[in-house]
Amino acid sequence: MASSGVESIDRAEAAARLPEFGALLTMALEAQGRARASYSRFAVGAAVLGGSGAAFPGCNVESASYGATICAERAAVVGAVAGGETAIRACVVVTPTAEPSSPCGICRQFLAEFGPEVLVFAASSIGDRVWVARIGDLLPLSFDSRNLAEAE
Ligand code: THU
Repeated sequence: MASSGVESIDRAEAAARLPEFGALLTMALEAQGRARASYSRFAVGAAVLGGSGAAFPGCNVESASYGATICAERAAVVGAVAGGETAIRACVVVTPTAEPSSPCGICRQFLAEFGPEVLVFAASSIGDRVWVARIGDLLPLSFDSRNLAEAE
Protein backbone atom coordinates (compact mmCIF):
# COMPACT_ATOMS: atom_id res chain seq x y z
CA MET A 1 0.00 0.00 0.00
CA ALA A 2 1.52 3.27 -1.10
CA SER A 3 -0.28 5.74 1.17
CA SER A 4 1.96 7.72 3.49
CA GLY A 5 1.97 6.57 7.09
CA VAL A 6 0.65 3.13 6.15
CA GLU A 7 2.96 0.15 6.52
CA SER A 8 2.47 -3.30 5.04
CA ILE A 9 3.62 -5.95 7.52
CA ASP A 10 2.79 -9.55 8.39
CA ARG A 11 0.86 -10.90 11.38
CA ALA A 12 4.02 -11.69 13.33
CA GLU A 13 5.26 -8.12 12.95
CA ALA A 14 1.81 -6.81 13.93
CA ALA A 15 2.01 -8.87 17.14
CA ALA A 16 5.45 -7.40 17.78
CA ARG A 17 4.01 -3.89 17.41
CA LEU A 18 0.96 -4.54 19.60
CA PRO A 19 1.01 -7.42 22.11
CA GLU A 20 -2.79 -7.64 22.02
CA PHE A 21 -2.83 -8.05 18.22
CA GLY A 22 -3.20 -11.85 18.25
CA ALA A 23 -6.16 -11.81 20.61
CA LEU A 24 -7.79 -8.96 18.69
CA LEU A 25 -7.31 -10.78 15.39
CA THR A 26 -8.86 -13.97 16.78
CA MET A 27 -11.80 -11.95 18.11
CA ALA A 28 -12.23 -10.16 14.77
CA LEU A 29 -12.13 -13.44 12.81
CA GLU A 30 -14.79 -14.93 15.08
CA ALA A 31 -16.94 -11.83 14.68
CA GLN A 32 -16.51 -12.01 10.90
CA GLY A 33 -18.17 -15.42 11.09
CA ARG A 34 -21.20 -13.77 12.69
CA ALA A 35 -21.51 -10.96 10.11
CA ARG A 36 -24.93 -10.38 8.59
CA ALA A 37 -23.90 -9.64 5.01
CA SER A 38 -26.59 -11.30 2.95
CA TYR A 39 -26.79 -8.36 0.48
CA SER A 40 -23.12 -7.69 -0.25
CA ARG A 41 -21.77 -11.14 0.71
CA PHE A 42 -18.78 -9.22 2.08
CA ALA A 43 -18.34 -10.33 5.69
CA VAL A 44 -16.22 -8.08 7.87
CA GLY A 45 -15.04 -8.62 11.42
CA ALA A 46 -13.43 -6.18 13.81
CA ALA A 47 -12.15 -5.92 17.35
CA VAL A 48 -11.22 -2.79 19.24
CA LEU A 49 -8.93 -2.46 22.22
CA GLY A 50 -10.36 -0.12 24.83
CA GLY A 51 -8.36 2.07 27.17
CA SER A 52 -8.99 -0.37 30.01
CA GLY A 53 -7.31 -3.17 28.07
CA ALA A 54 -10.57 -4.97 27.33
CA ALA A 55 -11.40 -5.98 23.76
CA PHE A 56 -14.75 -5.72 21.99
CA PRO A 57 -15.92 -7.44 18.79
CA GLY A 58 -17.91 -6.05 15.89
CA CYS A 59 -19.20 -7.28 12.55
CA ASN A 60 -21.08 -5.67 9.72
CA VAL A 61 -24.84 -5.90 10.05
CA GLU A 62 -26.65 -5.17 6.81
CA SER A 63 -30.20 -3.99 6.32
CA ALA A 64 -32.66 -4.33 3.45
CA SER A 65 -32.71 -0.53 3.71
CA TYR A 66 -29.06 -0.52 2.59
CA GLY A 67 -28.14 2.82 4.16
CA ALA A 68 -28.99 1.48 7.60
CA THR A 69 -26.09 -0.98 7.39
CA ILE A 70 -23.41 -0.63 10.04
CA CYS A 71 -19.78 -1.55 9.40
CA ALA A 72 -17.81 -3.91 11.61
CA GLU A 73 -15.46 -1.23 12.94
CA ARG A 74 -18.25 1.06 14.08
CA ALA A 75 -20.16 -1.85 15.58
CA ALA A 76 -17.06 -2.68 17.65
CA VAL A 77 -16.63 0.91 18.80
CA VAL A 78 -20.29 1.11 19.80
CA GLY A 79 -19.88 -2.08 21.84
CA ALA A 80 -16.78 -0.73 23.55
CA VAL A 81 -18.46 2.55 24.49
CA ALA A 82 -21.58 0.75 25.68
CA GLY A 83 -19.28 -1.47 27.72
CA GLY A 84 -17.85 1.55 29.53
CA GLU A 85 -14.78 2.45 27.49
CA THR A 86 -13.96 6.10 27.03
CA ALA A 87 -10.78 5.55 25.03
CA ILE A 88 -9.97 3.35 22.05
CA ARG A 89 -6.35 2.30 21.56
CA ALA A 90 -6.50 0.08 18.50
CA CYS A 91 -8.82 -1.48 15.95
CA VAL A 92 -8.21 -4.70 14.01
CA VAL A 93 -10.45 -5.25 10.99
CA VAL A 94 -10.51 -8.35 8.79
CA THR A 95 -11.96 -8.60 5.30
CA PRO A 96 -12.36 -11.59 2.97
CA THR A 97 -9.86 -10.20 0.47
CA ALA A 98 -6.40 -11.53 -0.40
CA GLU A 99 -4.95 -8.12 0.48
CA PRO A 100 -6.38 -6.18 3.42
CA SER A 101 -9.08 -3.58 2.73
CA SER A 102 -8.74 -0.29 4.51
CA PRO A 103 -11.60 1.06 6.63
CA CYS A 104 -14.27 3.13 4.89
CA GLY A 105 -14.43 6.88 5.34
CA ILE A 106 -17.29 6.82 7.83
CA CYS A 107 -15.40 4.34 10.05
CA ARG A 108 -12.26 6.46 9.82
CA GLN A 109 -14.24 9.47 11.01
CA PHE A 110 -15.75 7.42 13.83
CA LEU A 111 -12.39 6.08 15.00
CA ALA A 112 -10.78 9.53 14.73
CA GLU A 113 -13.14 10.75 17.47
CA PHE A 114 -10.82 8.89 19.87
CA GLY A 115 -7.75 10.81 18.77
CA PRO A 116 -5.11 10.58 16.04
CA GLU A 117 -3.07 7.87 17.80
CA VAL A 118 -5.65 5.08 17.45
CA LEU A 119 -3.80 2.26 15.67
CA VAL A 120 -5.65 0.61 12.81
CA PHE A 121 -4.62 -2.87 11.67
CA ALA A 122 -6.32 -3.97 8.44
CA ALA A 123 -5.91 -7.72 8.09
CA SER A 124 -7.14 -10.40 5.73
CA SER A 125 -9.04 -13.52 6.67
CA ILE A 126 -7.28 -15.21 3.72
CA GLY A 127 -3.69 -14.00 3.79
CA ASP A 128 -0.96 -12.99 6.22
CA ARG A 129 -0.62 -9.36 5.14
CA VAL A 130 -1.54 -6.57 7.56
CA TRP A 131 -1.67 -2.84 6.92
CA VAL A 132 -1.05 -0.71 9.96
CA ALA A 133 -1.48 3.03 10.36
CA ARG A 134 -2.39 5.67 12.89
CA ILE A 135 -5.91 6.91 12.29
CA GLY A 136 -4.44 10.41 12.05
CA ASP A 137 -2.55 9.26 8.95
CA LEU A 138 -5.60 7.53 7.47
CA LEU A 139 -7.74 10.63 7.95
CA PRO A 140 -5.59 13.76 7.95
CA LEU A 141 -7.26 17.09 8.65
CA SER A 142 -10.32 15.34 9.99
CA PHE A 143 -13.39 17.29 10.96
CA ASP A 144 -13.58 17.25 14.74
CA SER A 145 -14.89 18.96 17.86
CA ARG A 146 -12.47 21.86 17.40
CA ASN A 147 -14.22 22.80 14.15
CA LEU A 148 -17.55 22.85 15.95
CA ALA A 149 -16.09 24.99 18.73
CA GLU A 150 -14.75 27.53 16.20
CA ALA A 151 -18.13 28.27 14.66
CA GLU A 152 -19.11 31.95 14.87
N1 THU B 1 -17.85 -2.72 5.47
C1 THU B 1 -17.35 -2.78 6.74
O1 THU B 1 -17.88 -3.49 7.61
N2 THU B 1 -16.25 -2.04 7.03
C2 THU B 1 -15.60 -1.23 6.14
O2 THU B 1 -14.68 -0.52 6.50
C3 THU B 1 -16.00 -1.25 4.73
C4 THU B 1 -17.28 -1.93 4.41
C5 THU B 1 -19.05 -3.50 5.16
C6 THU B 1 -20.28 -2.66 4.91
C7 THU B 1 -21.11 -3.58 4.03
O3 THU B 1 -21.86 -4.43 4.87
C8 THU B 1 -20.08 -4.40 3.29
O4 THU B 1 -18.86 -4.26 4.00
C9 THU B 1 -19.87 -4.00 1.84
O5 THU B 1 -19.64 -2.63 1.75
